[in-house]
Amino acid sequence: MNKNNSEPTSGNSDSGCIYLVGAGPGDPELLTLKAARLLRDADVVVYDRLISAGILAQVPAGVTRFYVGKADGHHHVSQPEINALLLKLAQSGYQVVRLKGGDPFIFGRGSEEASYLQRHGARFEVVPGITAAAACAAYAGIPLTHRGVANGVQFISGRGRHNREPELDWQALAHSASTLALYMGVDSLDQVCSKLLRAGMPGDTPAAAIENGTTRQQRRLISTLAQLPIQAVAFRLQSPAMVVIGEVVNFSQTLDWFRPDSGQPAAASARSMHG
Ligand SMILES: C[S@@+](CC[C@H](N)C(=O)[O-])C[C@H]1O[C@@H](n2cnc3c(N)ncnc32)[C@H](O)[C@@H]1O
Repeated sequence: MNKNNSEPTSGNSDSGCIYLVGAGPGDPELLTLKAARLLRDADVVVYDRLISAGILAQVPAGVTRFYVGKADGHHHVSQPEINALLLKLAQSGYQVVRLKGGDPFIFGRGSEEASYLQRHGARFEVVPGITAAAACAAYAGIPLTHRGVANGVQFISGRGRHNREPELDWQALAHSASTLALYMGVDSLDQVCSKLLRAGMPGDTPAAAIENGTTRQQRRLISTLAQLPIQAVAFRLQSPAMVVIGEVVNFSQTLDWFRPDSGQPAAASARSMHG
């Protein structure tokens, strides 16, 4: 793990607490007020790979930082090591922000860390964040639900246990009236789309991939279930990307409001151009 600063100095053996904080998907303005306050007041920040530079810039100089991210499914620091670090910091009395991309309890291992802390009698609190599915879809002009089009949404992971195939009920997913929001799906995109097709989902079902959602690097690929895997290769789709499958993707043509190059909504960038 990388430790950027010196040992934290303001620990207090009575008041250590681990705040499991969701940072949202990248745009620093999507941090909650509570997350921003806790970052300002923290002794230590322990953060993951998907925390954007803009969010790390909110951490005051002098706060000790530990990077415990992983690359391409390979853990830079193992989960037991992260758990042990958090416990030690809590037992030493520090106010610790355990900063995670999106929401800590959605494919974020926040519940594993909370369970470990709870078992060892350490104080923790959970601060929800905006999860990638909601934020990336919104920044791509896609409502995850829409009356009469999709009355639900299912969050699914493209990665199973130990990086194996996802174990999902493909029949149920293929015949569901809900939107599907696929996390960690870049490597398994071909497999996931094929399984849905084989289970009976129509090939012309609208599908989108949103890479680096909510940031200036955001790119979106609008396609169909049958075409998405091959188009993703030509598009050179990279992680992190969210995949959204369902009729709601059609709204992306008319509700496309975000201009990633300026980091601004279309209306604001038009105003500043004219101003
Ligand atoms: C380990 S999961 C963490 C999810 C996170 N806890 C959340 O609630 O959004 C990582 C996956 O989230 C998605 N993701 C996170 N940030 C993203 C972003 N800025 N753009 C697109 N997808 C993102 C990608 O599917 C990525 O592979």
